[in-house]
Amino acid sequence: MNVHTQRIVMNGVTGRMGYRQHLVRSILAIRDEGGLELPDGSRLQVEPVLVGRNRDKLAELAERHGIAEYTTDLDEALADDSATVYFDAQVTSERKKSILKALAAGKHVYTEKPLAESVEEGLELAQAAASSGTVTGIVHDKIFLPGLVKLKGLIDSGFFGRILSVRGEFGYWVFEGDLTPSQRPSWNYRAADGGGMVLDMFCHWNYVLEHLLGRVDAVWAKTVTHIPERWDEQGRRYDATADDAAYAIFEIGDVVVQMNSSWTVRVNRDELVEFQVDGTHGSAVAGLWGCRIQPRVATPKPVWNPDLPTDEDFRGQWSQVPDNQEFGNGFRAQWEQYLLDVHEGRPHPYDFASAVRGLELVEAGLRSSAEGRRVALETRTA
Ligand SMILES: NC(=O)c1ccc[n+]([C@@H]2O[C@H](COP(=O)([O-])OP(=O)(O)OC[C@H]3O[C@@H](n4cnc5c(N)ncnc54)[C@H](O)[C@@H]3O)[C@@H](O)[C@H]2O)c1
Repeated sequence: MNVHTQRIVMNGVTGRMGYRQHLVRSILAIRDEGGLELPDGSRLQVEPVLVGRNRDKLAELAERHGIAEYTTDLDEALADDSATVYFDAQVTSERKKSILKALAAGKHVYTEKPLAESVEEGLELAQAAASSGTVTGIVHDKIFLPGLVKLKGLIDSGFFGRILSVRGEFGYWVFEGDLTPSQRPSWNYRAADGGGMVLDMFCHWNYVLEHLLGRVDAVWAKTVTHIPERWDEQGRRYDATADDAAYAIFEIGDVVVQMNSSWTVRVNRDELVEFQVDGTHGSAVAGLWGCRIQPRVATPKPVWNPDLPTDEDFRGQWSQVPDNQEFGNGFRAQWEQYLLDVHEGRPHPYDFASAVRGLELVEAGLRSSAEGRRVALETRTA
């Protein structure tokens, strides 16, 4: 059988995202199934080359998963012409210089989000990619969440009638690290190290909203650092300088999207993220997995009466959208799309231009909060 092999330089695979989602659940899963089937019946196989700072950790990973090659020298890995793709899941602040090297070496580049720490840096990378003629890709995992797949199906079917508004709630309590160790890496809470809720999450919200409703026209946001001190992986106290919550309104045409993103909220929802969409003909609440709906014709008529306790089971008045299909791992699904695009030499829809639009929303949100005003997104890059 004809087998094409793509060797992928993978940087940052000792981290949470790089290891679990990208290496194990995506690339090794594809490799262990003998690669992807191409339309002509041949196969596209993958071969990871691990890159990182700690040789011992890389050696242990390579041994555990039967990976032949690893190195602590990025330049050496990039000098290998048989490797066609560079992937980056390092901490955000390390990304730009590594991607510039990869592009200069002629590699196709796929990367975790955010692409960079500012629009300016993102544009520099997008321009470098355009001149190198390579296929770029940015992680856009959230649109593969089963709940959002169901929500997109509802929108496409016309279920909502005219969509009026969206209320998104994302987040959970991230422990400060003193009494209970934190469940997220400490760099996320230091601005100088690329941390911050807006930088972290607005690039996700940008492609999610583009996918569901269209481009964001304007943003109002209030960003806050609610918890000013935290304790790191070694139990050392540090100043938490990055925003840990953002309260935003995004305007998309006439649709008003309120989006709360917070590492300082205790969960009183069914899932860690939920989006309630209200339309003239129906409403839905989509989470990571589930999606509940209430059509216009099944909408009860609540009456405000402060003299009596509420006896209505409001949640019981909604019905679940059935699964009706198998949902694979979203990280793997996007890798498959990207690898096929590289193989065919065609642009990937979630490319660096898409990543820059995400950074534009980040900057607009931060500016809105700093200046206390609505910020229109006028610069369009794609
Ligand atoms: N798509 C998503 O849902 C999602 C979720 C979380 C994080 N991320 C993104 O993935 C990237 C990695 O996040 P993570 O949570 O896996 O972080 P992590 O701290 O667990 O891993 C960071 C990786 O970068 C490496 N690294 C390189 N230089 C470093 C330096 N100077 N300091 C510290 N680490 C360095 C580490 O060795 C490690 O492999 C970030 O850019 C983040 O924004 C994406």
